[in-house]
Amino acid sequence: MNILANIFSACLLLVQQTPVPKDLPLPLPLPEELLVVLLVVSFLVHILFVNLMFGGALLTLFFEALGYVKKNEDYDKLSLEIAKTTTVNKSMAVVMGVAPLLTINTLYTLYFYTANALTGLMWIMIIPLVIVAFLLLYAHKYTYEALRHNKPLHLAILALAVGLFLFIPLIFLTNINLMIQPDKWLMVKGFVSALGLPNVWPRYFHFIMASLGVTGLFLFWWFSRRAYDFEGTFNTLKLYDLKKRFYSITFGASVAQFLIGPIVLLTLPEKGLSWHMILVIVTGASISIPALVYIWKEINGEPAKIGRRFPWIATCLSFTVIFMGYGRHLYRATSLETHQKLVKQKTEEYRLAVEEARKEALSPQKDTTQVAVLSPGQVVYENNCKACHALDQTLVGPSFKEAAAIYKNDKASLMAWIKKPGKKREGAAMPAQTQLNEKELGDVADWILTLK
Ligand code: HEC
Repeated sequence: MNILANIFSACLLLVQQTPVPKDLPLPLPLPEELLVVLLVVSFLVHILFVNLMFGGALLTLFFEALGYVKKNEDYDKLSLEIAKTTTVNKSMAVVMGVAPLLTINTLYTLYFYTANALTGLMWIMIIPLVIVAFLLLYAHKYTYEALRHNKPLHLAILALAVGLFLFIPLIFLTNINLMIQPDKWLMVKGFVSALGLPNVWPRYFHFIMASLGVTGLFLFWWFSRRAYDFEGTFNTLKLYDLKKRFYSITFGASVAQFLIGPIVLLTLPEKGLSWHMILVIVTGASISIPALVYIWKEINGEPAKIGRRFPWIATCLSFTVIFMGYGRHLYRATSLETHQKLVKQKTEEYRLAVEEARKEALSPQKDTTQVAVLSPGQVVYENNCKACHALDQTLVGPSFKEAAAIYKNDKASLMAWIKKPGKKREGAAMPAQTQLNEKELGDVADWILTLK
């Protein structure tokens, strides 16, 4: 019992420190499951092209620098060939980024918005930074000829773009980390302090390695295509060597993930961990093992056979990526489960309060506080006379102001009339109010005589 009580008070403390805003009381535009599938799938497609863009830029820089140092024209050509793919992948990354942004905004409106607001300036800086990086990529791609004799400048243009590409993911990473940790919202003071969240850096390196792994595999395929005239393009470079090189990049990066991955998992805030999620992640990682074994075999096997198992390797690694993407979603969902319940409760309370207030505003007559101030005579009037008499206009019978003027201070005569009305005016006669007792008669007469 004691332990339970402790846990309970710890939870209470956490809840007290954690802001629980109310959500927009609007239904989702699509079934939640469909939105989740859309989010996971569109994010994976987006991040795949981001990986290719980033990895492509990095390898372009590497091979161009290598060509410059080794004075080998072929590496220069190779870097240009890679650069050509990078700008296309970049466009795909941007276009494919719209869907996950929209779906995450719909599914996690409150969380996403808060994380954006807390990293405000840096978050909005993504736009100019990305624009500059993209322009630098194009500037670099289109000045291969013009800057042929000024390699350091040409390399510097790309290095600047790569530098920006190295920085921009940090903004996204702090953002998604912040979004799943509402308990940190009150402590975080902008982007730099959010960078210190324990999980940001391991995830960053995880992303960089993923980029290299994916790009290695992509370039392996790109240069092995039948339609690609390799011999016609390069003089000294051998396709086999290049294939080995790209395989090695994928292999090295993937092996590194086996070190970085567990660190990412261990630095994740505990509350989002679940056996389900860990099982999904471990399954994903296991599927990559046969792929790595195949790559290893192909690197060290017969030169003529290199690439035969490529479809298998690509398939296995694709499954790894799908499992990782799903595990990532599970982690986020579990992390936010409790908080989402609290938010839902708060939103519901708010909705009820609004409804209550609306009802009250629409029916002021039924306000109980007003009934309480009615005098006993007025209550008799409300219940017995109102159908035929108003205070200052003639309905079925004359107005009570008129009656008051007739009877002045003659309460006894007034009571007598009400008990046994006569016939004075044209039209209907007044029915005798025999249901009233003496007190009620006196009360209503008193009240009529106060009207002037
Ligand atoms: C069914 C309709 C009806 C109801 C209910 C009714 N009255 Fe009347 N009342 C009349 C009519 C009609 C007259 C006019 C009668 C006439 O001129 O002869 C009248 C006239 C009166 C007058 C004027 C008498 C006068 O000397 O001119 C008073 C006072 C009065 N009513 C009081 C009451 C009170 C108090 C009640 C409730 C306890 C009440 N009435 C309920 C229809 C009604």
